Amino acid sequence: MCNSRLEEALVEELRDLLDAEKRLTKALPKLAKAAESEELVAAFESHNEETKKQVQRLEEALQSLGQKPLGKPCGAMKGLLAEGDELKGEADQGALRDAMLIAAAQKVEHYEIASYGTVIVWAEQLGLKKIVSLLSRTLDEEKAADEKLNGIAEELNTLAEVSQ
Ligand SMILES: [Fe+2]
Ligand SMILES: [Fe+2]
Repeated sequence: MCNSRLEEALVEELRDLLDAEKRLTKALPKLAKAAESEELVAAFESHNEETKKQVQRLEEALQSLGQKPLGKPCGAMKGLLAEGDELKGEADQGALRDAMLIAAAQKVEHYEIASYGTVIVWAEQLGLKKIVSLLSRTLDEEKAADEKLNGIAEELNTLAEVSQ
């Protein structure tokens, strides 16, 4: 039972995010495998470890609301990952494919940043401090992952110029 309609909406969003993060724990190892740059492989692998913790935080958040920790299919993440798969197939392993993998991963990070931003504001409005603090940690990780990808993309672009 939810205390308000906003809390109901929050539960729905948390379920959506839980499904999205679970999908990512399956997709990130594939992205790491497809990448060439060692730095990019390491970035995908370490973000996968963070993502597993993010799954646990969402489960904890749902449980703190008296809800079962179950996801509900996230169509947006399905679409983003399908598009990433397509892009991946368009280039052989190398700098160009790495650039495409980064593009796909950054779309995912931005989706996550938007979604966590929303649920944190809702949780704040509902006075759910535990959820705010749990998910703020996740939001910081998503922002850091996005920044790291920016840095790697810049380096790769520099390398591509040098190799022309
Ligand atoms: Fe995440
Ligand atoms: Fe992420």
